[in-house]
Amino acid sequence: MLKEKKYYDGFAEYWDGQFTSRAGRNFRNRKLLFLRECLDRVEGVVLDVGCATGFFTSRLGDDKRVVVGVDMSEGMVRYAGDKHPDTRFVVCPAELLSTKFGDVDCIFMMGVFTLDSAAVLLGECRKVLREGGKLVVITGNGLNFYLRFIYNLLYPTLPARLSTVNSLESTLARYGFRVTRRKVFHLVPFMVPDWLFGVCKFVEGKLEGSFLVSFLGSIIGVESVKVGKNL
Ligand SMILES: C[S@@+](CC[C@H](N)C(=O)[O-])C[C@H]1O[C@@H](n2cnc3c(N)ncnc32)[C@H](O)[C@@H]1O
Repeated sequence: MLKEKKYYDGFAEYWDGQFTSRAGRNFRNRKLLFLRECLDRVEGVVLDVGCATGFFTSRLGDDKRVVVGVDMSEGMVRYAGDKHPDTRFVVCPAELLSTKFGDVDCIFMMGVFTLDSAAVLLGECRKVLREGGKLVVITGNGLNFYLRFIYNLLYPTLPARLSTVNSLESTLARYGFRVTRRKVFHLVPFMVPDWLFGVCKFVEGKLEGSFLVSFLGSIIGVESVKVGKNL
C-alpha cells in the first residue's frame, strides 16, 4: 500500500488529465450514471472511498445526502479540496475506515477493492455502515484481456487480485452483503480508435488522454446491502 500511496501522491493533476478526451469523459460519465442510480434513494452520510481528485464526490451530494471523499493519498486529498472547496475530504486508508467513521448510510469504493484485500476492506465497511446500509464496489473486470495482461505484468505473484462479477458477488455474500444490482461496463467502440489515432498527447513530458482508459476500459460495478448486525 505504501508504494501505491507514494505513486498516487504525485499523480493528482495527471489523474484528471486522463479523462479529458471523449473516451475519458464517456468512461467517467457512465460510472457517474451508475452511481446516481445506486444512490437514488440514499439519504444521510455517504463515503466515496478512493475519491482521488473528487470528481464523483463533488457531484453526488444533494440536500438530503452529504458525500465525503476519503483517500489514503494526502496529495489527492489536497488537490480535491482545492478544486472542490464546498466538499469535505479526509485522508484515511480504507483499511482504517472505522477509526474515523461510523454509522454511515452508504459507501462507494471505486478503484480500491481487490480480492486479496477483501477481508480487511469489507470488514471495515461492515463496521462503518449502519444496519441496512449500502455498499457499492466498482473495480476492474478480471475477464478483460487488457487488464489481465497489465496485472500479470505488474503483479505476477498476485494473480488473484482481480474480480469477476461472480467472484465479487460471492465475496460480498461471504462478508454479509446481499447483492442488489450488478453492471459490466464494456469497452465502447470509440475508445480504441481514440487511443490508436492519437487522442493521447504528451503534455510537459507526460502522456495525457485516453491511453489508460482504453486499456482499463472494462470494469464491473456491484451494489449490495449490509445484512444483519455487527458482531
Ligand atoms: C484508480 S484511483 C480511482 C479514483 C476514483 N475513485 C475513480 O474511480 O475515478 C484510486 C484512488 O484510490 C486511492 N486508494 C487506493 N487504495 C486505497 C486505500 N487502500 N485506501 C484509501 N484510498 C486508496 C488512491 O490514492 C487513488 O486516489
